[in-house]
Amino acid sequence: MKTTVNSKKENPIILGIESSCDETAAAVVQGRKILSDEIASSANIQSLYGGVVPEIASRAHTDAVAAVVERAVKNAGIEYKDIDAVAVTYGAGLLGALLVGVSFAKAFAYALNKPLIAVNHIRGHLAAAYLDEPTLKPPFVTLLASGGHTAILHTKTEAEFEILGATLDDAVGEAFDKVARVLGLKYPGGPHIERAATEGKPVIPMPKMLKGGGGYNFSYSGLKTAVINYCHTMEQRGEAYSKADVAASFQSAAIGVLVEKTVAAAKEKGVSTVTAGGGVAANGYLRASLQAACQKNGLALVLPEKRYCTDNAAMIAAEGVTQFKLGNFADMRLTAKASIPLAATLTNGK
Ligand code: KG4
Ligand code: ZN
Repeated sequence: MKTTVNSKKENPIILGIESSCDETAAAVVQGRKILSDEIASSANIQSLYGGVVPEIASRAHTDAVAAVVERAVKNAGIEYKDIDAVAVTYGAGLLGALLVGVSFAKAFAYALNKPLIAVNHIRGHLAAAYLDEPTLKPPFVTLLASGGHTAILHTKTEAEFEILGATLDDAVGEAFDKVARVLGLKYPGGPHIERAATEGKPVIPMPKMLKGGGGYNFSYSGLKTAVINYCHTMEQRGEAYSKADVAASFQSAAIGVLVEKTVAAAKEKGVSTVTAGGGVAANGYLRASLQAACQKNGLALVLPEKRYCTDNAAMIAAEGVTQFKLGNFADMRLTAKASIPLAATLTNGK
């Protein structure tokens, strides 16, 4: 079956599907406008196990995906025939989880005779900024801080970005989740650490090694280990310690370096705008620090609403719009990939 596509359309209607981790999400975006945005999360079940159990995530996606997509189309006030293309996250993420979204998107696109678009999850996180500020135009520098990635990116055009620096080991969100676990807080740890930190003070010394050497790289394993060692040592000695102070000290160290390097990168690249994305960009302390640092340095900041920082399908549809305009479509051979390079885009699905 051959689909003819008019990829010159200014504001195409794209259905986005996301299933890379524990959120089954579907959304409809028209150009840079969100028409609908649906999410079913298995985070509540996952939190019983202290993290995402891949098999549980895959089953939850299988149960939810059809209803979530149906709701997204219905709530967008459109009919199936109005959709210009189906965009789906093909990587990176949990293989079994991704496969549910990819298989569903392929079947859906095939049945409706619509083109298919393969979206890199990370490019989706970047694209969330366009939904928040429809007039946003490259060049800009982005702080990407999620559970799987931590990087500073320089977006040159809507389709092209360079990686200025990235984590050399753990992602910042992963460090939040691990520290939360040691403090006896639930998964996902980020919001719980944020809450605990509001009751504490950043008074516990933290290692400086997280600067990850020079440039714009990061390292979080040293910070994570230092926090874990601190808690274990105190417990072994039978000494009481403030979990709130640990949370505040960790949060301030983990985020301080992100903000500092993002602003330095924006200044070095000579851009006037900074954007942020990824689950950790939903952190109130990060948002306030980045806002203050950008203001101080005369930089405009585009900070997507918290809901569009954590995983969602509107950002996948938004990146789908860019790929649609580039005429970059996938075919029925598309498959899910657990790990892909940060900047990867499939050209014609390959
Ligand atoms: O982008 P995301 O939803 O999924 C990935 O692509 O990884 O990010 C999830 C990560 C988790 O590690 C979670 O703990 C963290 O984002 N996160 C936060 C906050 N909300 C979510 N970290 C710090 N503060 C938050 N408020
Ligand atoms: Zn994500």
